[in-house]
Amino acid sequence: MTTTHSTANGSLNGKVALVTGGSRGIGAATAVRLAREGADVALTYVNGKEAAEDVVRRVEAFGRRAVALRADSADPAEAAGAVERTAEALGGLDVLVNNAGVGVLGPLEGLSLTDVDRVLAVNVRGVFLTSQAAAARMPSGGRIITIGTCMTQRVPGPGGTLYATSKSALIGLTKALARELGSRGITANIVHPGPTDTDMNPADGPYAPAQAEMTALGRFGTADEVASTVAYLAGADYVTGAEFAVDGGHAA
Ligand SMILES: NC(=O)c1ccc[n+]([C@@H]2O[C@H](COP(=O)([O-])OP(=O)(O)OC[C@H]3O[C@@H](n4cnc5c(N)ncnc54)[C@H](OP(=O)(O)O)[C@@H]3O)[C@@H](O)[C@H]2O)c1
Repeated sequence: MTTTHSTANGSLNGKVALVTGGSRGIGAATAVRLAREGADVALTYVNGKEAAEDVVRRVEAFGRRAVALRADSADPAEAAGAVERTAEALGGLDVLVNNAGVGVLGPLEGLSLTDVDRVLAVNVRGVFLTSQAAAARMPSGGRIITIGTCMTQRVPGPGGTLYATSKSALIGLTKALARELGSRGITANIVHPGPTDTDMNPADGPYAPAQAEMTALGRFGTADEVASTVAYLAGADYVTGAEFAVDGGHAA
């Protein structure tokens, strides 16, 4: 496990990024941060059309190009197709951020087959298919950055079976991608956010105080704090197959 406090260290001028689930939360912060570093950005969403268009405007405010794509990661064709649509709109693809994810938490006995299929479709199959399509078209210097979770490192209580199962698969995918794509100069890394203040996990939610207490820093992180590590990885040349905790010490 590697940890970093680095902020972005390289220009992404001339690069094209695709951020899945970029309309809100960590994905929206990442799209804006990558644009600040010089990248043109495509972002996917399912329901939040207006929110996605707002992120497009925030990217364009940095003088970068942006496009919002409605693409459900649970749909195999849409998950893979987002890559081609990005390349068509923005001229290529250099950086993929696999951020779209769903969190279904609850007692093991209460999880339905529908829950299992939905979470695995979005959090695992969609990430696999988007990464596969991205790898097929990325040039040397390509970057695949996946959002995991602190729950792959430490499950602090009951209720996380399905979510932890799905996100743990992404560690294996990341390491295998690093090995498979390294000879082409493409890197793959995974970032594990701790409790992060978003719609999925609001810092004023009923379970927030207990989550904050589980971190060494005693607080939630912000979406920008996760985005800054993603931006660092987008510009890092000699880092691949690595896990980055941005979790306030949740795993410490
Ligand atoms: N917040 C945390 O504490 C935390 C901690 C660890 C890891 N994470 C991970 O970080 C990632 C982002 O989480 P977040 O907290 O920012 O979540 P969020 O606030 O719920 O935002 C989720 C984003 O993903 C999009 N999305 C959801 N399902 C999708 C699908 N099937 N296809 C495409 N896009 C989809 C949403 O788009 P719409 O606008 O269409 O809804 C939205 O833009 C997730 O992978 C999550 O598991 C979060």
